[in-house]
Amino acid sequence: MYRLRLPKSARRMVISSIASALILATTMLAQNGAARFRAKDPGPRPNPATAIPNPVPGLNANETALFNESLLRVSELEGTCDTCAQQPQGVPPVDPDPKNPFSPLKLVNSAGMGPVFNADQCFICHSQPAIGGSSPAVNPANVIAHRLGGTNTVPSFEDPSGAFRETRFKFNADGSRDGGVHSLFTVQGRSDAPDCKLNQPDFDAAVRDRNIAFRIPLQLFGLGLIESIPDSAIRNNMKANAELKRQLGIGGHPNMVPNNGTISRFGWKAQNGSITTFAGEAYNVEMGISNDIFPISRSEEAGCNLSYEPFDIPRSESELYNNPLKIMPAWLMFTEFMRFVDAPQPAPLSASAQHGKELFSQVGCALCHTQSFQTLGVANPTRPAEEIGPHVVALRGQTVNLFSDLLVHHMGATMADNVVQGGAGPDEFRTTPLWGLGQRLFFLHDGRTNDLMVAIQDHFSREHSDGGDNPVKDQHSFRYGPSEANEVVERFNHLSEADKQSILDFLRSL
Ligand code: HEC
Ligand code: HEC
Repeated sequence: MYRLRLPKSARRMVISSIASALILATTMLAQNGAARFRAKDPGPRPNPATAIPNPVPGLNANETALFNESLLRVSELEGTCDTCAQQPQGVPPVDPDPKNPFSPLKLVNSAGMGPVFNADQCFICHSQPAIGGSSPAVNPANVIAHRLGGTNTVPSFEDPSGAFRETRFKFNADGSRDGGVHSLFTVQGRSDAPDCKLNQPDFDAAVRDRNIAFRIPLQLFGLGLIESIPDSAIRNNMKANAELKRQLGIGGHPNMVPNNGTISRFGWKAQNGSITTFAGEAYNVEMGISNDIFPISRSEEAGCNLSYEPFDIPRSESELYNNPLKIMPAWLMFTEFMRFVDAPQPAPLSASAQHGKELFSQVGCALCHTQSFQTLGVANPTRPAEEIGPHVVALRGQTVNLFSDLLVHHMGATMADNVVQGGAGPDEFRTTPLWGLGQRLFFLHDGRTNDLMVAIQDHFSREHSDGGDNPVKDQHSFRYGPSEANEVVERFNHLSEADKQSILDFLRSL
């Protein structure tokens, strides 16, 4: 047998050039592959033709009447007092927004705003892709700041084409924890508060001192269904797949309602146990309107507080409110809206999205983003024995496809906001329900991205003792453990680009 005998150095040269050629070829292939295809967020699905959301199917006549009335009432644009309302009570709005016939564009048609507020209408923040949704494409901060002559400065962190952000301050000047909402605006300069002199908080200082945390609006669709999930179902799901969760480093625990020991489930940190509490709190905190459950105004500044307290309570003045539906306070009508509004409707799954749905479970996303829960009882009960479960019959025996375990998880330094709420610590967040994701524009609690790929990658964070991956986020040195989602994100990153694309396609179908 003939063998080519080359000197050792020549042999080395041949081997090394074959190796370089191989490396070059592989690199070129990879580059070509990359140029050919990288997984990419396909972007939001188009909005529905009408801005008005549907009620859950199967409401009775009284519930339907409540839902319709709630839409009218909670679309109101608020002002400081009854008599300075521009929109007369009891007649349809004169300048309806064509996309939302319930909502007058410019006129103030309601009342009760206190000195400080974030916005003057619930649906100005909850409006994408329809009323009741999340933050709209155009940030409404500038309109709200100057309505009726308001002299507010729009804070620097309100990006005109970004999500509307509201603020919490992390610490007080004495170093103790704050964590509360600091209202963006005051009524100073508005024609309905002529004597008010009241400055906004010093947001520039809070930004400079890295003492500020942001939150964007969550959507409100299907909240009656989430409210109807029994605590026992959340606990059983928490215990399920224990071994797999342990291997992947996934924990999670419920945040609790103080005082009664039930599981709290609404808000970015699952800090609120009921939509009724959330509605009362939002009327007070977002719009400055005191009410039955938050009876005191957030600011008692003389000359700026023009409404009686609590302002929004059941109305008994017979000459104005002789219709039983009008007797209900607006904040309670908002609860009815959220209880009766239907869940977001997913799009039909493409072949890719169907495959993505399977991968979403396989890589472990579904260990936190639990696909569904059941509400108690039997749908359409026919016998008295079946009549257990939610009071509202249409909410009984329903599958709630929310894609959340309703637990809070340690997400590490990249996500952390260093705000504590009840049992949810500085880096803990509720697994965001992913239903409706296909039509949302901004992601994560602070609205930092509109790209699903970034939202997924930001689930990853190593242990940090220096304020984290993003040290400019926090002046306070703080120790964060690794994110519970690390292993799952690594598994996602090991998928082929085509498989990643399938998961993104699945997410945009929701
Ligand atoms: C300034 C913008 C803004 C306005 C106005 C606003 N919200 Fe919100 N909403 C938010 C933000 C931000 C969150 C997330 C709060 C958090 O978890 O810290 C939220 C969350 C919610 C949630 C929790 C949803 C869930 O899935 O857990 C409810 C309920 C809610 N808002 C109701 C209301 C009601 C009722 C009004 C009118 C009184 C209102 N909101 C007005 C910004 C707004
Ligand atoms: C350990 C639990 C956990 C795992 C595993 C997990 N997530 Fe999440 N996810 C969360 C939490 C908590 C948030 C909220 C974080 C925040 O906003 O601060 C979230 C938020 C999201 C959001 C943003 C939703 C919104 O409306 O802002 C998307 C999208 C998402 N997750 C997709 C995924 C995908 C895809 C996977 C699998 C690759 C995954 N998640 C794995 C807990 C988890």
